Amino acid sequence: MTGASVRGKKIGIIGVGNIGASILRGLLAAEHVSGPLFISDVRSERLELVAGEFKPRVLVCTSNLEVAERSDVILLAVKPQDVRAVLEGIAPVLGKDKLLITVAAGVPTKTIERVLGEGKRVIRVMPNIGALIGESVTALSKGTYADDADEAVAKAVLGAIGAVYTVKEHDIDIITGLSGSGIAFFAAVIDAMAAGGVCEGLPRELALAIAAQTAQGAAKLVLAGTTPVALQEMTASPGGTTMRGLYAMEARNVKAAMMHAVSAATKRARELSTSIE
Ligand SMILES: NC(=O)c1ccc[n+]([C@@H]2O[C@H](COP(=O)([O-])OP(=O)(O)OC[C@H]3O[C@@H](n4cnc5c(N)ncnc54)[C@H](OP(=O)(O)O)[C@@H]3O)[C@@H](O)[C@H]2O)c1
Repeated sequence: MTGASVRGKKIGIIGVGNIGASILRGLLAAEHVSGPLFISDVRSERLELVAGEFKPRVLVCTSNLEVAERSDVILLAVKPQDVRAVLEGIAPVLGKDKLLITVAAGVPTKTIERVLGEGKRVIRVMPNIGALIGESVTALSKGTYADDADEAVAKAVLGAIGAVYTVKEHDIDIITGLSGSGIAFFAAVIDAMAAGGVCEGLPRELALAIAAQTAQGAAKLVLAGTTPVALQEMTASPGGTTMRGLYAMEARNVKAAMMHAVSAATKRARELSTSIE
């Protein structure tokens, strides 16, 4: 069996948990991917589940080494603390002709290059859990030895689960706070808005659906070019309901709290970057 191909490259995924399996799902649904993908995970039950769902389009490998041997592009989707062990295991077969894409939060490309050895092509990406439904936003940054063709391949892989932006690597920690963690912050906001509706008497399920749909509407308007300030002005007529609500938010420092959440998550991502050597 030859293996799945994106721009002629065979793809393997090490770690098929939340993010690994989401990327796998996205790739298998994408038009530009053909053939099976190679996968491995220490959890055999997870492999069986994924294989059961996607057979014959995934090929379960008996080790990470086998994935690395059989693939041109290896997506590393294990937890940051497991990265070093996986890299040490696959380094012997990871030639300079292969591309490693890492999703691990807080693990710099320099650290990975140090373990793999000089000349190894690495790209670091930071997706978010929107990947589950093809609505991730992924930040991407090239390591020292990856070239523009590698970037194009990584964009094609991550493009299967949503939007992709190329950024400077030192900005990835900020994007981890803003997007990787940020999707949970928006979930907390939706939950809080729905609770407000319930507090005023709406049924819980209806309140949650309306809060989530409202968030989606705001996001789509902003992505279509309406600035957040213009959106507020379009809604807040003088003396009206929205103006009262915005004033209540100001009085309780909601903006500062959200800014602080992103900063705190970024700070933690930076701490992790220096702790994993
Ligand atoms: N989840 C997110 O929202 C998100 C967003 C952006 C980036 N990330 C990054 O994505 C990576 C994966 O996160 P996740 O949430 O998908 O984690 P996860 O659900 O725990 O998936 C990781 C999988 O890899 C397995 N694994 C552990 N050690 C392994 C090894 N040596 N060889 C092969 N497989 C191994 C894990 O098994 P065990 O459970 O037994 O350890 C698990 O099945 C992390 O580095 C994280 O920083 C996650």
